[in-house]
Amino acid sequence: MTKEYTITDHTYDVIVVGAGGAGLRATLGMAAQGLKTASITKVFPTRSHTVAAQGGISAALDNMGDGDNWRYHMYDTVKGSDWLGDQDAIEYMCRNAIPAVIELEHMGVPFSRTKDGTIYQRKFGGHTIDYGKSMAQRSCAAADKTGHAILHTLYQQALKHKATFFNEFFAIDLIMDGEGICRGVMAWNLEDGTLHRFAAHMVVLATGGYGRAYLSCTSAHTCTGDGNAMILRAGLPLQDMEFVQFHPTGIYTAGCLMSEGARGEGGYLTNSEGERFMERYAPHAKDLASRDVVSRAITMELQAGRGVGPLKDHVFLHLEHLDPVVIHKRLPGITETARIFAGVDATKEPIPVLPTVHYNMGGIPTNHLAEVLNPTNENPEQVVPGLMAIGEGACVSVHGANRLGTNSLLDLIVFGRAAAYRAAEVINKENAIKPLGPKDGEKVIEKIDRLRHAKGSLKVAEVRLNMQRTMQNHCAVFRTKEHLEEGIKKLQEVVASYQDIHLTDQSMIWNTDLVEALELENLLQQSMVTIHSALNRTESRGAHAREDYPARDDKTWLKHTVARLSADKVSFTYRPVHLYTLTPEVEVIPPKERVY
Ligand code: FUM
Repeated sequence: MTKEYTITDHTYDVIVVGAGGAGLRATLGMAAQGLKTASITKVFPTRSHTVAAQGGISAALDNMGDGDNWRYHMYDTVKGSDWLGDQDAIEYMCRNAIPAVIELEHMGVPFSRTKDGTIYQRKFGGHTIDYGKSMAQRSCAAADKTGHAILHTLYQQALKHKATFFNEFFAIDLIMDGEGICRGVMAWNLEDGTLHRFAAHMVVLATGGYGRAYLSCTSAHTCTGDGNAMILRAGLPLQDMEFVQFHPTGIYTAGCLMSEGARGEGGYLTNSEGERFMERYAPHAKDLASRDVVSRAITMELQAGRGVGPLKDHVFLHLEHLDPVVIHKRLPGITETARIFAGVDATKEPIPVLPTVHYNMGGIPTNHLAEVLNPTNENPEQVVPGLMAIGEGACVSVHGANRLGTNSLLDLIVFGRAAAYRAAEVINKENAIKPLGPKDGEKVIEKIDRLRHAKGSLKVAEVRLNMQRTMQNHCAVFRTKEHLEEGIKKLQEVVASYQDIHLTDQSMIWNTDLVEALELENLLQQSMVTIHSALNRTESRGAHAREDYPARDDKTWLKHTVARLSADKVSFTYRPVHLYTLTPEVEVIPPKERVY
């Protein structure tokens, strides 16, 4: 069969899969240290989903004179995670935020400026000074287009350091050897239809989240968690997949992001009675409570019949009281989005909003050096040789059960940078890269061949819609046993129906039908793990709110879920949360009740 397919072999010291913020930061860092580095990306780098990140990147620079300190940032992140975050990794992230952001500034990121010329910083949910005493101005912003500004700068830097780019190459599966070592990755060149085997000392998965498992999300259509699914198919586990973040302010009904930066600049939410309801749910932080709290509050207002509009199914975000000069200067992007998608002039009228899937806290387990772990081993910290993961696809775990806004861009940059440092330490360029065997990648070819010629009765889009509806209806902000079990039954039927798809395009060149079929398989596998993990965790913590188990249960559940998928069955083991710090320079933050 392989005769029908043209296969090209490549060798690199490092292959980075994905060219969003994390992938590009790692790529440029590795190339800068003399490693022969290539980036494989299914979209052109500057089209990666990082481009859509709006409100900012957190770092305790203290440019606004509020006395900020990385220890406050660490405290807020641990509390935001509902104590499921690993405190050594959180210390590493919050401490390294400062040099990592200054480096971005020096690379040329066009941040907004204070009148003194330093990086402008705004308030964001859950970020405080002095362990909750007042709100911090910690989010370093480039208006409301921070991801766009960072992504373009990183791409330019990666080119400067002579990294090689394989653009519009779809990575399909890892190449693992019999000893559990990652040897490379198999990819498809969408432009000319050829297949490619990349052998490397190190493969870095920077493939992002899987927001498209849901019907309404802020994620791009490309966010299908391809790396996470490769991990599952390699027999490795994913961690904490039950924790799916809903952003409180997706635009009604399109789902596009209305940055939390809007509330950071003084925006607020109201219900149908014109009430600023967040004052009831979070008396101190109010509209700037953490995201899980605000999303739940909106959902409860809707359930109580206090939604706005004819269907009482959304709430209002107000900016019209702010100076229009501030709105145009600090929030130009969302003002335009509100006009296009809601027909609203944000300087004059409120914006209709609704919680929308935004981020996956779960993903590929790693340590703070970005090395992938296999916690199903006797030693849960055991590294998978030759494999790293960074960005939203990774679970370091710095976000635990709930991520704070602006800590995602930070995670991309800090751990992309950490991966580059670690790769330079562990890779010996003098060692030959082990050649791939004749059978490596064969399964991928068989899969492609089978899918291209699939002649079932269902379109890929029909199966995808059934999956997205099931996840949206059965694994959303509030969850119960009955509802999740019903969801699992439906999802199993959707998974079975994937065997009955047909593809209309059999070609290998820009066959988007085939791309979507491969992406759908990836989404289905992650959806299965997510909904099973949600049923398995019988407590409420962070973004995982079980109506039938409303309390956090530290006695049983202060542990990471480790889930594997085999023959459509999900199985669980657990990994301890790191309730210790990396250095003695900061103290462990012991679990306590989480109120805002
Ligand atoms: O609301 C926002 O601007 C999103 C930021 C984030 O998810 O970090």
